[in-house]
Amino acid sequence: MKHLTLLFAATAAALVAPDQVTILDKQQPPVSQDAVQTWWDSTLSHSTNLFTTLEKRITSAIHSFDSVSFGGFDTDSDFPHPPRRGHGGHHRGDKTKTIYELIKSNKYTTKFASLLDNDDFADIKSLLDSTSHNKTLFVPTDKAFERIPHHGDKPPPKEFVLALLKYHIAPGLHTAHDLLTTHTLPSNLSLDTLGSRPQRLRVSTGLLFSIRVNVVSKIVYSNILAKNGVIHAIDHILVPPPSQEKIISLLPNTFSTFSLGLEKTELSVPDHKGGTLFAPTNSAWRRLGPRANAFLFSPHGLKYLKALLKYHFVVDQTLYSDAFYGERKDEKAVRRERVDGGKYWHVDLETLLDDKAVAVDVKRWKGWVSIVLNGFTKVIFQDGVASDGVVQVVGKVLIPPHGHHGHAGEDDDEDIAVEELKGRLERYVEKDEEEVGDL
Ligand SMILES: *[C@@H]1O[C@H](CO)[C@@H](O)[C@H](O)[C@H]1NC(C)=O
Ligand SMILES: *[C@@H]1O[C@H](CO)[C@@H](O)[C@H](O)[C@H]1NC(C)=O
Repeated sequence: MKHLTLLFAATAAALVAPDQVTILDKQQPPVSQDAVQTWWDSTLSHSTNLFTTLEKRITSAIHSFDSVSFGGFDTDSDFPHPPRRGHGGHHRGDKTKTIYELIKSNKYTTKFASLLDNDDFADIKSLLDSTSHNKTLFVPTDKAFERIPHHGDKPPPKEFVLALLKYHIAPGLHTAHDLLTTHTLPSNLSLDTLGSRPQRLRVSTGLLFSIRVNVVSKIVYSNILAKNGVIHAIDHILVPPPSQEKIISLLPNTFSTFSLGLEKTELSVPDHKGGTLFAPTNSAWRRLGPRANAFLFSPHGLKYLKALLKYHFVVDQTLYSDAFYGERKDEKAVRRERVDGGKYWHVDLETLLDDKAVAVDVKRWKGWVSIVLNGFTKVIFQDGVASDGVVQVVGKVLIPPHGHHGHAGEDDDEDIAVEELKGRLERYVEKDEEEVGDL
């Protein structure tokens, strides 16, 4: 058995038309998350390089967003116009063979093929050999396997490898041309931590139309057509992503202030099946200004900080830029509308802060999507997939709007006064923590 350590996969199964948000409620038999989580825990200490790379990419995506200051289209895309040379035009492959047969006979994919020939994974092999449905396989090349850092002598548990294999398969036939306008794709992996919905794969387009899956895996050879779908070869393995919390803690250059806040306030997020975390970057915190920060992180300010942090967590509802896994128990808890033929979409997501919702507008234009919160705050890095939901990165700290207004017209980039901040948060501050005296 190969030593599969991880490569991060920010990260997919119902077919989502690129131009509409689909509400997916289909239940699938879940894979136990335990095996995956255990593997993550035992592996993280060996993978620091990987996270450095990941963080660099996220940082540069956020910077390019800032300088382009256009919309909120998907991250790395400098040249977002399809179609492209490398991925379009003639297709390769052999339409008389199945996906399994093609990778079995290809000299660059022997390692993946040999995993499939292991009896433990016979189901996956028959899935890739079956012609009853089309699917898309992202196959790691043999080189991709060489990039996996060594991890002692412990082979990964079978369940982990199974989850990993499923995570490389997306139902339906998605050519590279389709992927250029895709934001997330459902995979064949479903986990109980996501309410048994499919884990998604994050797709982004970069320089010269290079396509990346889960931020680090680049498609190096695309559109190998088979009888039962299409294959794209990738240069890094796709590993099922860790939890939201873990992602935040793994990327300190981006999220250390947020992490520190969570730690200081001991905010505990209830058990959840999926969720949306609006994670403010370190520069988002800096934008609040030194006084507000000094106050929030002071002993007097912590209860306010806790209220503020709660406003960034949505549990049981997972909002991707092109899919929404709603809460199952009470769908009515979500107000949602479609305006403009599905190109513009609105949802109010209730946060952990009492009944306070974040108003989300998802706007689409061609393949681009912008997500705007409370009318003015943009999501600057979309669809950071997590085992238990999604991380949507924001460039500003979200402050609950006053009173009844849907959203307050914020003055951008102005330090917020401490009094103003206290005023906005006062009614949410936990009573038993209230103190006499003032700052
Ligand atoms: C798979 O896709 C091809 C090409 O789009 C199509 O002709 C074929 O009918 C599809 N097969 C199945 C089983 O859906
Ligand atoms: C994965 O594929 C199998 C076989 O086609 C199917 O039964 C299952 O529902 C799929 N799971 C997901 C999450 O798509």
